[in-house]
Amino acid sequence: MTTYVTATADMRQARDGTIKLHGPDGFAGMRRAGLLSAQVLDSLYDIIVPGITTQDIDDHVRRMTLDAGALPATLGYRGYTHSCCTSINHVVCHGIPGPKRLQEGDIVNVDVTSIVDGWHGDTNRTYFVGTPGIKARRLVEVTYEAMMRGIEVARPGNTIGDIGHAIQSFAEKHRYGVVRDFCGHGIGRLFHDAPEVVHAGRPGTGPELRPGMFFTVEPMINIGRADVKVLEDGWTAVTRDKTLSAQFEHSIGITEDGCEIFTTSPKGLHRP
Ligand code: MF3
Ligand code: CO
Ligand code: CO
Repeated sequence: MTTYVTATADMRQARDGTIKLHGPDGFAGMRRAGLLSAQVLDSLYDIIVPGITTQDIDDHVRRMTLDAGALPATLGYRGYTHSCCTSINHVVCHGIPGPKRLQEGDIVNVDVTSIVDGWHGDTNRTYFVGTPGIKARRLVEVTYEAMMRGIEVARPGNTIGDIGHAIQSFAEKHRYGVVRDFCGHGIGRLFHDAPEVVHAGRPGTGPELRPGMFFTVEPMINIGRADVKVLEDGWTAVTRDKTLSAQFEHSIGITEDGCEIFTTSPKGLHRP
């Protein structure tokens, strides 16, 4: 059973399995948080070149977020001590920034979440380091398109399963594997909340979409099989078959007749 509650400004919001339905204040808050996160991602195109370390990316993300008067949501989150996730090549998600240097031809996903006045803007993009190979380019382009196809069916009357189906059918047409172990999630005053947003699913299944719902769509797509494993560090998820993996993420809000994307690139740089 799915329970929807109307979110009010003074309400204590707990991770209690309910789906929060937000009003105009929520949309305004998410717009500001989403914009900052998108600006942070926009600023990375000049920084991500062969030879830099993923720690350099993290330092930049932290500085820019704090300078804007916001907080990186991942800093101190469940023991995580960095301001973003940096996932290179066969790393699916939650790669931890460190001294590793990016190399020509790598792909790297950077996932940032800023907290602005209590609202979370969660978004990620996959970047090319130098000039990508043809296989990497195709994977990244299809992954972006898959996310957008999921977002296109995000409207009242449809369900979470419709989003998963749109993503899965497109990715599998290209013979790619859609990761099942990680999902999108409700977002707002909480970083990770109900519902779980599947990236593979059957039409008409799962919670129905209603105006005021906020959640992420963040498919992880592999050239090979869908299977992942988490490394000893407890965070880094990699493809079991070592094939390349790409991801894109937007935070969105369901409106009366469709959805609003909170994390659109103000510079129009979101497309790979
Ligand atoms: N931003 C990630 C997401 O899309 C979550 C990262 S949590 C961390 O949900 F602790 F790994 F940073
Ligand atoms: Co997310
Ligand atoms: Co994210």
